[in-house]
Amino acid sequence: MGKSYLFISGKGGVGKSTLSAALAVFAAQSGKRVVIIDGDMGLRSLDLMLGLQDLVLYDMADLVKRRCSLDQTLIKHPDFPTLHLMVGGQQARPKDFNKQDVQKILRTLKKRFDLVLVDGPAGLGRGVRIFAELVDEVFIVATPDPIAIRSAEKMASQLYAAGARPQMLLNRMSPQFVLDGAFDQPQNLSFALDIPLLGVFEESKPLYEAALQGKTAAQAGDEGITAELQNVLHRMEGEDLPLPEYKPEKLNVFQRIWKWLED
Ligand SMILES: Nc1ncnc2c1ncn2[C@@H]1O[C@H](COP(=O)(O)OP(=O)(O)OP(=O)(O)O)[C@@H](O)[C@H]1O
Ligand SMILES: [Mg+2]
Repeated sequence: MGKSYLFISGKGGVGKSTLSAALAVFAAQSGKRVVIIDGDMGLRSLDLMLGLQDLVLYDMADLVKRRCSLDQTLIKHPDFPTLHLMVGGQQARPKDFNKQDVQKILRTLKKRFDLVLVDGPAGLGRGVRIFAELVDEVFIVATPDPIAIRSAEKMASQLYAAGARPQMLLNRMSPQFVLDGAFDQPQNLSFALDIPLLGVFEESKPLYEAALQGKTAAQAGDEGITAELQNVLHRMEGEDLPLPEYKPEKLNVFQRIWKWLED
């Protein structure tokens, strides 16, 4: 039996689709059976991110309305045979789905796949709340800026009240922010917000450029991103791996003099 995971955020554009698609590809490359659901009804993006836009025929809304079978909604990735995409529905609205329908779909998918990843839209709308109640784990994605952090905290408190135990993925982190004192160490932030930290992804130019070419972060060739994808996958399986802590480089005396002259 597989496990299901939902990616959400308070603020939009923080990297939910980027990270969920990257994890999906990375996990499939490691031999896992993965399905990723584009839960952003009306505004899908994963088909483009995964290069599958020409293969979308049926979606979750068609399945719920019995216009197709479950297999017809599963789009197999030509490059990663164990990876499938299911899209929510371009014309669908969250009110087209009820909890029982979604529960049935997730239950069936968990029997067939090791990982069921759901990429949600920003905010805690009806669709997100249904998924949040049904999945095994909820990941709140946030970037290191006050608005994203405040909205992550707000989402976490609403999820706690509903009985969920969300974890946080920090994205677009810059170690320099921490060294300059502009942002707290990721671990301290997680402690202050009372949201356990699942992973920290740094700001990455190769990732951004890969996205422009229709490739996922798993294919960007950024070693730091790839290493953290691996770590996150292991932490999702319960392994306790250290999280990044940014410390100023230890400079030798010549480097210190050089830095002093530069400053
Ligand atoms: N670590 C990163 N480094 C550089 N660019 C990134 C990083 N993570 C995400 N991006 C870029 O940020 C932009 C927004 O990412 P993405 O679409 O994944 O966000 P989202 O949270 O899914 O947005 P929405 O709320 O609209 O669904 C994209 O252009 C993506 O390439
Ligand atoms: Mg998105």
